[in-house]
Amino acid sequence: MRAINTIGVLTSGSDAPGMNAAIRSVVRTATYMNKKIIGIYQGFDGLIEGNFVEMDNHSVSNIIQRGGTVLKSTKSERFKTREGIKKAYENIVTKGIDGLIVIGGDGTFRGATALISNYNINIVGIPATIDNDLYGTDYTIGYNTALNTIIEAIDKLRDTASSHKYLFFVEVMGGDSGFIAMESGIAVGAEAIIMPGEKITIQDIIEQIEQGRQKNKPSGIIIVSENSNCGGAYEVANKIKEQYKHYEIKIAVIGHLQRGGSPCCYDRVLASKLGYYAVYNLVRGASNIMVGIKNNKIVKVPIIKAIKQNPEINPEMFEIAKILSL
Ligand code: F6P
Repeated sequence: MRAINTIGVLTSGSDAPGMNAAIRSVVRTATYMNKKIIGIYQGFDGLIEGNFVEMDNHSVSNIIQRGGTVLKSTKSERFKTREGIKKAYENIVTKGIDGLIVIGGDGTFRGATALISNYNINIVGIPATIDNDLYGTDYTIGYNTALNTIIEAIDKLRDTASSHKYLFFVEVMGGDSGFIAMESGIAVGAEAIIMPGEKITIQDIIEQIEQGRQKNKPSGIIIVSENSNCGGAYEVANKIKEQYKHYEIKIAVIGHLQRGGSPCCYDRVLASKLGYYAVYNLVRGASNIMVGIKNNKIVKVPIIKAIKQNPEINPEMFEIAKILSL
């Protein structure tokens, strides 16, 4: 087993609230275990460029409550090339890094897999993405904060909607994953939730809205996933406007607001636990795993499983959302 004396840490891909709490936990746990800790700026691009900084407990003071990532992030195109990966590995060797902790979502873990399969380096992943789309963990860091941001925004839209008899089409993120749409939709009592990939037509959506109108709903909130089959909120709303005249239609795209902000308590604690366990496992020789949380227990999941399998939304959630929207 390779001795792990120097640990590198990076954040990559889309930022997520709680990434800083994870960096803090990694740095402080590593320091506690008498390991040297190197921060890598700008994700895999920073690894290629050798953009490194030595970190200590002080360098992560006062960041647990901050959104974004103090180590910055990129979606590296260069790391998808053989040359990019080789350069990154050379920098790892030159800097004496024995093991790497990568904090991010599926793109980050794909990058980690490319590095592991080409070179001998121990890597542990920490799941951080607002999309909650990694297999093997019930929650990813940032998801709960994003949901809270979204419902706060939609509650405000609801005030306006109900004052004016507006029907709001609200677009939420999530990529190809529907966790954000489903759970925010249930939490705000949405009249309909348009999920990504769902085989639904404009006519189906109109029928759902019409059911609400028949029950004398004077206004409403329709959640639209950014990747719905019928398009984003603008596309869906504009098509409905042409055929359905019973409500005044308004559109809101929450956009990148839902990625920022101070992490909620759950995300801070989750990030603190996962950071600790990532270091703990790395120094004991673990590699190619993601640490996650399953049934309130910290678990280890092979990275390949985390990215290749799709976490599924419990089918009961669809039923619950439907029944409660009536
Ligand atoms: O993965 C997080 C996420 O916010 C997705 O929900 C969204 O589709 C994507 O990133 C947006 O990425 P960008 O910041 O590159 O526009």
